Amino acid sequence: MSTLLVLGGSGRTGAHVLEHAARRGHLVRALVRNPDAVRAPAGVELVQGTPANIDDIRRAAKGTEAVISVLNNARASDNPWAKPVSPPTFMADAARDTLTVMGEQGIRRIVLTSTQGAGDDWARLNPLVKAFITLSNVKVGFDDHTGVDQVVRASSDVDWTLARAVALTDKPASGPVRAAEAGTEKPGTTINRATSPGSSSRPSRTTPGSARRPWSGTHAADPLRDPHPPHAQQRSELGCAVRRSRRRTGVT
Ligand SMILES: NC(=O)c1ccc[n+]([C@@H]2O[C@H](COP(=O)([O-])OP(=O)(O)OC[C@H]3O[C@@H](n4cnc5c(N)ncnc54)[C@H](OP(=O)(O)O)[C@@H]3O)[C@@H](O)[C@H]2O)c1
Repeated sequence: MSTLLVLGGSGRTGAHVLEHAARRGHLVRALVRNPDAVRAPAGVELVQGTPANIDDIRRAAKGTEAVISVLNNARASDNPWAKPVSPPTFMADAARDTLTVMGEQGIRRIVLTSTQGAGDDWARLNPLVKAFITLSNVKVGFDDHTGVDQVVRASSDVDWTLARAVALTDKPASGPVRAAEAGTEKPGTTINRATSPGSSSRPSRTTPGSARRPWSGTHAADPLRDPHPPHAQQRSELGCAVRRSRRRTGVT
């Protein structure tokens, strides 16, 4: 059991993070702008504030051991051309401030939702997808995720995971979920926000590049629980890519 700080717990993916973390027995605290609007599971502590304010992060982080961020650079709707409503560098700024607070308070573990195509993953996208992103307002979120990538990689004292999700849907939970190293397998196209990798009915499979080390759904859902999960990143049936810190995994 860990004491977790969740950023973005009021969001569509964040709601599932709160639920799964609480169900797994973690003590969960979520920093949210409007606690009245959040339907959190029993036991989850809602702290009013914003990740755009470092003092709010400081207050919410006190006594926690790890951070999960499912913040988004939001648009007015899911329409790719809808107007962005978050500041352009909202996620990168929040990540930088969160890492600062983690340093101050001795918190060493962070997991952040990223996106397929962020940072050096851009080179793996096909030209049509790149054109769609570049021409639409989806680009704002991508650029912000790339900023997060840079901020996180520049941090030296934390153990981090960037989960590079493919397109998220609100369909019912499904499985199995599988993770692998970036660039070792072709990712799937969508993943359901509700899917808990732990719900997979299939046996774990071995992640390419991590010989004989099984990457089970449970690991993917709860990397905080596994001190030595397979490095890097992911794909396929479920589709999100995870990059882990060099410090912990030795991955370059
Ligand atoms: N949609 C996709 O297909 C897709 C694909 C790959 C990766 N992702 C990534 O997955 C993550 C989760 O996405 P999602 O769709 O579940 O997110 P979401 O429902 O849009 O939730 C966004 C969260 O960010 C917070 N937030 C946004 N702007 C804020 C601001 N200016 N100040 C304070 N808080 C702010 C929201 O707080 P409030 O509730 O207070 O607004 C909410 O908790 C994102 O990083 C996204 O880029 C998405």
